[in-house]
Amino acid sequence: MKIQKRIAVLAGDGIGPEVIDQAIKVLKAVEKTFGVDFIFKKGLVGAAAIDATGNPLPDETIALCEKSDAILFGAIGDPKYDNDPNAKVRPEQGLLKLRKTMGLFSNIRPVKAYDTLLHISPLKADNIKGVDFVVYRELTGGIYFGKKTRSADGQHASDLCEYSAPEVERIANQAFMAARLRRKKVTLVDKANVLETSRLWRDVVKKLAVSYPDIELDFLFVDNAAMQMILNPRQFDIILTENMFGDIISDEASVITGSLGLLPSASVGAKTAMFEPIHGSYPQAAGKNIANPMATILSAAMMLDYFGLHEAAEAIRKSVDVLLEQNIVTKELNWEKYYSTTDIGNRVAELILKHNPVNT
Ligand code: IPM
Ligand code: MN
Repeated sequence: MKIQKRIAVLAGDGIGPEVIDQAIKVLKAVEKTFGVDFIFKKGLVGAAAIDATGNPLPDETIALCEKSDAILFGAIGDPKYDNDPNAKVRPEQGLLKLRKTMGLFSNIRPVKAYDTLLHISPLKADNIKGVDFVVYRELTGGIYFGKKTRSADGQHASDLCEYSAPEVERIANQAFMAARLRRKKVTLVDKANVLETSRLWRDVVKKLAVSYPDIELDFLFVDNAAMQMILNPRQFDIILTENMFGDIISDEASVITGSLGLLPSASVGAKTAMFEPIHGSYPQAAGKNIANPMATILSAAMMLDYFGLHEAAEAIRKSVDVLLEQNIVTKELNWEKYYSTTDIGNRVAELILKHNPVNT
């Protein structure tokens, strides 16, 4: 029988809908080439949902996600909220609530340097050639979700950073297991010289490491890690870290690849897994057909891996590689000769349609 998967499509704001359309185009080509069946259902999230319902994550969207096999997510955020510090509802709340409600505690962000793009990065090509690491960012705890306060006079504020041992353990296990399939090294990034939560992370991860004797474990303070990522990024294989440090260093890591528009991510945990580009809603580019859809297309490939459709996932990654090799890229990667968002989607879809599957 045909494999059938239900995909909740949450396009969100800014360039979200445009890049999501390209990923769907590519997934439709995958249906044809690999004989699988995807049922796409759209849901509202972010500023688009606030405009329509007043709520950045309506209950119908949660219900849709719960009954789907995966969530494909675009981007959220809108300048009209960024510029209003007093806004009561914000698009970001929708994403954070979705992560929490779906129990998506592990955010997986692969980073690599493409040979064909070494010249794009402001970093020296010699330093970044061959970089290939994955950030495991904890996604449902820490300072993002701790108690927040603001005094009545508005002059005092606090954000609590909290972690429990089981919260650390479950993502650390995933990081160790992932390292086993790679170069067998985990680097825990923390601030254990200052923060008690970081000391908890170290204790828990050290204890767990005993069960993974084949994996090398080392530790870096986040300030040093930020520097090492520029000085010698090839030293990293799996980076394991808490929520906020992971947010910051993954944007930094994108400089190695040359564009935020190339970095996909997967968020997995208790319920339906979610796949999203790590870039934001990039409102300045919205509606102009210039945004790079590759990060979203590569996120769709991570979704296919999650479904066990490895050959199709690999076909997508290969097709993106082919376009990069031929310099068929969007504007941020080549200002002199560039292709549109829809061009890139069409080209990847065409390559998938030409692919000869081995196993179907
Ligand atoms: C990310 C984003 C989000 C985060 C924002 C939009 C809330 O920056 O996914 O990295 O901080 O987690
Ligand atoms: Mn971020």
